[in-house]
Amino acid sequence: MKTAAAALGLLLAFATATPVELAENPSDSMLEKRDTEIVYLANCQHSVSCCGGPTNYSEVLYYATSASSNNGAVPAANNQCRISTSNYIAWEGDQRQCTFPTGVTFTTHIDADAQSRALYTWSGWGANGKNWNCYKDNQRTLFTTSGPEWADVCKSVYYCIPQ
Ligand SMILES: *[C@@H]1O[C@H](CO)[C@@H](O)[C@H](O)[C@H]1NC(C)=O
Repeated sequence: MKTAAAALGLLLAFATATPVELAENPSDSMLEKRDTEIVYLANCQHSVSCCGGPTNYSEVLYYATSASSNNGAVPAANNQCRISTSNYIAWEGDQRQCTFPTGVTFTTHIDADAQSRALYTWSGWGANGKNWNCYKDNQRTLFTTSGPEWADVCKSVYYCIPQ
């Protein structure tokens, strides 16, 4: 009798445990599928075929979904923020900021030694009213734009996702 009761208890525990697991799995996979907006801190190079070496500049780039940043898509003009320096900016160390054509300012705080860390590790944070975590990226090409005599290529130095 005692073992039968124990067996029944086990059966009940199993019966009640199963639906809980079933309920958790769908929400897990929904979380995996949910895309997020993403900001890149990018270094870009402008080349012209006629004259002189390439010139360099840096940009903060915004994509509404991270998936849209993995196929070479060029962000809309309102989502590109060019930092007016004559060369790449040093993203690390001091605070940097860029104001998009929309008026939104994105501020970055990348740790001074972030480039010496492993790829994809946390490097600092950004803010535009809400806060973002920034990670070291692998310098992959985000997009290329070109005309008859010129080409621009932008590469990801850091990427930031909402906290
Ligand atoms: C632009 O950056 C490259 C390295 O990516 C460098 O070799 C080149 O000298 C830079 N151009 C200028 C004008 O500083």
